[in-house]
Amino acid sequence: MDLFEYQARDLFAKHGVPVLDAVVAQTPEEAREAAQKLGGVVVVKSQVKMGGRGKAGGVKVAKNPDEAEARANDILGLDIKGHITKKVMIAQGADIAEEYYFSVLLDRANRSYLAMCSVEGGMEIEQLAEERPEALAKVPVDAIHGIDEAKAKEIVETAGFDAETAPKVAAVLIKLWDVFKNEDATLVEVNPLVKVASGDIIALDGKVSLDENAEFRHEDHAALADNESADPLELKAKQNDLNYVKLDGEVGIIGNGAGLVMSTLDVVAYAGEKHGGVKPANFLDIGGGASAEVMANGLDVILGDEQVKSVFVNVFGGITACDKVADGIVKALGILGDEASKPLVVRLDGNNVEEGRRIIEEAAHPLVTLVGTMDDAADKAAELAAAAK
Ligand SMILES: Nc1ncnc2c1ncn2[C@@H]1O[C@H](COP(=O)(O)OP(=O)(O)OP(=O)(O)O)[C@@H](O)[C@H]1O
Ligand SMILES: [Mg+2]
Repeated sequence: MDLFEYQARDLFAKHGVPVLDAVVAQTPEEAREAAQKLGGVVVVKSQVKMGGRGKAGGVKVAKNPDEAEARANDILGLDIKGHITKKVMIAQGADIAEEYYFSVLLDRANRSYLAMCSVEGGMEIEQLAEERPEALAKVPVDAIHGIDEAKAKEIVETAGFDAETAPKVAAVLIKLWDVFKNEDATLVEVNPLVKVASGDIIALDGKVSLDENAEFRHEDHAALADNESADPLELKAKQNDLNYVKLDGEVGIIGNGAGLVMSTLDVVAYAGEKHGGVKPANFLDIGGGASAEVMANGLDVILGDEQVKSVFVNVFGGITACDKVADGIVKALGILGDEASKPLVVRLDGNNVEEGRRIIEEAAHPLVTLVGTMDDAADKAAELAAAAK
């Protein structure tokens, strides 16, 4: 999960990384009040989960509350590469002497962590990395030792900080590692990390990605999720612990096991070519235990997608045998009642398939068509979707 800058700033502050005072605002009036409260020069910053905000006009200096209100008025609603600004952060203005770059991230290819640091930070860092990669120090970080004093020293020396600045930056890097480690992040990036006129080192910007696999040990992380911008169907699926991804098509898909669902998407897309180009509407893996409740929740999410015209339930009975799944489908349709309004094509195979098919046939639900093979079922689902389009 990627965080907004203001959320990253809060985590930095929690772990003792030096940051500037800041207040989040959702209206120009709130921005004015924030500037008044902070006093002096402030910076109005778009809060979107997208880089290049400064270059897109999303970071502006304001000398007084009037200007802060005007700049917030410009920036709220601003589209930055498809991300609409709904909040701004009003931060104290810094008297910047120098801008540096630092990041630490999970380096999957090397099965390790990697710290990157440069004395030439700021908005041109991507260009620097491309044109003069030697100016960006890359230092592997061992998972056990992390960024301790010795590692921090190695990083600032490799980056080429002067003797006076190096220890000050090193002290901040150790704190940034605390954020990375203790919050279970996969990325902590500070661009720019600045030296201000007084000589202090401050994190002026922050990008943090948290590892969702570690959510269970961070109760406070759930509050960081941006439910407002999430797709409502994906949000509903998440609340029901379903593995769902919305796609842009007409045939709803339910399957058990990620591999089977992936190949179901393929066969439906292929079959759809013969039926006016209909496509799969989603990925949904209901996993091993296809109970009536899980099936009902899954169907509920898919039927809530207005684009969906037909649904293909493709299940291979394993530990959860086909009769249990068939039972789940019949009961789920019972639970949904009139909510279930679109044709369902069901293909069952595997463990106890005869009994599963018998249950579906006996229930004789008017919306359900039972089809023997995966290809034929995909074709039927695509045909029904095309007919209803
Ligand atoms: N509080 C501040 N005081 C003074 N200058 C600031 C402040 N915050 C940002 N700036 C200036 O604005 C520039 C851009 O800000 P920032 O790094 O936050 O956005 P960005 O890098 O453009 O966005 P992103 O990191 O999303 O690409 C900084 O490099 C810095 O020069
Ligand atoms: Mg930045």
